[in-house]
Amino acid sequence: MFQFIRDLYRRHQKKLLITSGVAAISYLISIYVRNKINEFQEQLKEENLTRDLIKKRFSQTQKDCYMTFLSFLPVLVDPIFKELDVEEITKELKLSRKNKNLINNDGKSELNSEDLSSKQEGSIVIENEGSNDNNNNNNNNNSISGIGKSKNELWQELKIKSLTRFLTLIYSETLFIILLHLQLNIISRKSYLKTALKLASKKQSIKLIDLEIEDNNNLNLNDKDLSEQAFLSFTWWLLNKGWIKLKDIINESVENVFNEINLRDEMNIEEFGKLLFEIQKNIDNKLFEERYDYELYDNIEINSNNNNDESNNIKMIRLISLILPSNSKDELELLEKTNTMEFISKFNSNLVNSATLCKMNDELKGYLKSEQVNMISKTISATGISVILENVEQTLFLKQENKRRDKGEEGKGEGEEKGMLINEKWKLAFILAVLTPQTQELANRRLDNKVLYMMNNVRELDDLSASVYSNFDV
Ligand SMILES: *[C@@H]1O[C@H](CO)[C@@H](O)[C@H](O)[C@H]1NC(C)=O
Ligand SMILES: *[C@@H]1O[C@H](CO)[C@@H](O)[C@H](O)[C@H]1NC(C)=O
Ligand SMILES: *[C@@H]1O[C@H](CO)[C@@H](O)[C@H](O)[C@H]1NC(C)=O
Repeated sequence: MFQFIRDLYRRHQKKLLITSGVAAISYLISIYVRNKINEFQEQLKEENLTRDLIKKRFSQTQKDCYMTFLSFLPVLVDPIFKELDVEEITKELKLSRKNKNLINNDGKSELNSEDLSSKQEGSIVIENEGSNDNNNNNNNNNSISGIGKSKNELWQELKIKSLTRFLTLIYSETLFIILLHLQLNIISRKSYLKTALKLASKKQSIKLIDLEIEDNNNLNLNDKDLSEQAFLSFTWWLLNKGWIKLKDIINESVENVFNEINLRDEMNIEEFGKLLFEIQKNIDNKLFEERYDYELYDNIEINSNNNNDESNNIKMIRLISLILPSNSKDELELLEKTNTMEFISKFNSNLVNSATLCKMNDELKGYLKSEQVNMISKTISATGISVILENVEQTLFLKQENKRRDKGEEGKGEGEEKGMLINEKWKLAFILAVLTPQTQELANRRLDNKVLYMMNNVRELDDLSASVYSNFDV
């Protein structure tokens, strides 16, 4: 019995001990833990704050990229429209049509130039085209323009120029989008890093001497802005020089694929897309092809003083030559063209500025020659082309519908018609006539411009921006 009570007591005692022990410990823990939790929560809050700040800054930077792109758009596209004046040729051809009866009235007619004015809703089929090319050579030889171009030449020029313009717009916008994302993320990372460091130093009450100095010393702070401003002015190269070289590449690629294709040749939209894809592959290859610098820049001479020919010439991918100048003379000219004299003298007064600028441009160059940028360039240009082609297909479909309705044909099933349309063949001239007004979309600065928005928002571009943004090694 006693034994039982003793045991009971012992058990109770143990339990009591344990209970009191737990109580004691838990009391200790609770203070400790409460402090720890508070500390942790504070830390979380600050981490949240920092993370939110980074996130906000990052997405703000991406928005800035798009706004900058849109605000620069006319500077980029106006010269392209001016250089590749498709409308002027259309006008001449229309004029020639008016004179046609005077010039040749043997009843043979060729491509109907009215089909080339996009506004024309009525006609859809190019009338009575000659049955073969030779037929036309006799008829279309007449010089009808002031410059003395024959009608055939004008048609040929129209074909090449309208495609070259379309693709030059797509590719120069692609490169400009990539360039702005690289530049703005590099700059934004710098300022974010500064903020993050400040936050961290405040938290740990560490005085970051560098930052303090920078903040208190206006000259230094200004200098930092100077190199960033200079860095941004390098967009001038693409906007003024690069696109012309780009146009030449594209012109050549378009000619290679389309020279032998007659405007009267019929094709469905898929076949047309395949031809465009041929050109795309060609352009993409050329952009990332390695060349000697004297092949890429106008003002570089072959350096053959050496025994070893070409040893002093640098090889690089062509894309870089479209976006960055090659020597300090061009760089200086660029800075002078884009900035005030006051800026230049301030910039030159401190060697650190050009060193910082050089570092940023080197980082930019590193990205430009990466496989990642190669892929992104292909993705963005392909996105732009396919959005425009979808619009072309849609327009062709509507025109086909209208034509049927006008003829009083009852539509068959919706799906059936759409299916028929895909295989429907159109004269190349007509496809181009529908494509040409669509390319105007590429110059349209509306915020909700679908094609530009989609080009600017391919996922891979976000990945690139994120990797620039988190590249702390520089
Ligand atoms: C941190 O942010 C997350 C959401 O992002 C929120 O759920 C959490 O409560 C925040 N924590 C603190 C300590 O502010
Ligand atoms: C077409 O032009 C060529 C020279 O460009 C000329 O020799 C020929 O006679 C012309 N033909 C016609 C039918 O005008
Ligand atoms: C395209 O290239 C041809 C030579 O292949 C040239 O005659 C023509 O002027 C070029 N067109 C443009 C718009 O640069």
